[in-house]
Amino acid sequence: MRHRIEVLHGVNLDQLGVRPAEHYGSLTFDQLEFKIEGFAEELGLELSSFQTNSEGEFVERLHRAREMDDGLILNPGAWTHYSWAIRDALEISGLPAVEVHLSDVNAREDWRKQSVIRDLCFMTIAGKGIEGYKEALEALAARLEEGDEQ
Ligand code: DQA
Repeated sequence: MRHRIEVLHGVNLDQLGVRPAEHYGSLTFDQLEFKIEGFAEELGLELSSFQTNSEGEFVERLHRAREMDDGLILNPGAWTHYSWAIRDALEISGLPAVEVHLSDVNAREDWRKQSVIRDLCFMTIAGKGIEGYKEALEALAARLEEGDEQ
């Protein structure tokens, strides 16, 4: 069975390439998306992705995911640290999810250490740059395959 994964990129992630390279690397958002598509293809996953700077749109995309997707990868950007609305919407989706951050949020400012979605995600990957998305896709593929066998 071919699984469908949605990658949700939150606020300011469209500005990659302009944001501090020491935290986020030098790839642009389009380059990041291209790489993620390649990883998904290698794993035989169907991929959709979405980026928005509007919290409401992010929430609506999570509502839709419940019907459309089998698993989620979320990098909500700064919303990670305080958006209870996004947390609730993720809970509503009921989907297996991985939280990904390009930068090492635990080694930066204190306010970045808090994540309001972490306990709803079965895995968190931070500080591995683009490689983090590859690991997240691998983990979701393995988990969804396990589910197929049961
Ligand atoms: C981020 C980390 C967040 O703290 C920050 O606000 C972002 C990006 C990351 O990918 O490292 O916008 O989620």
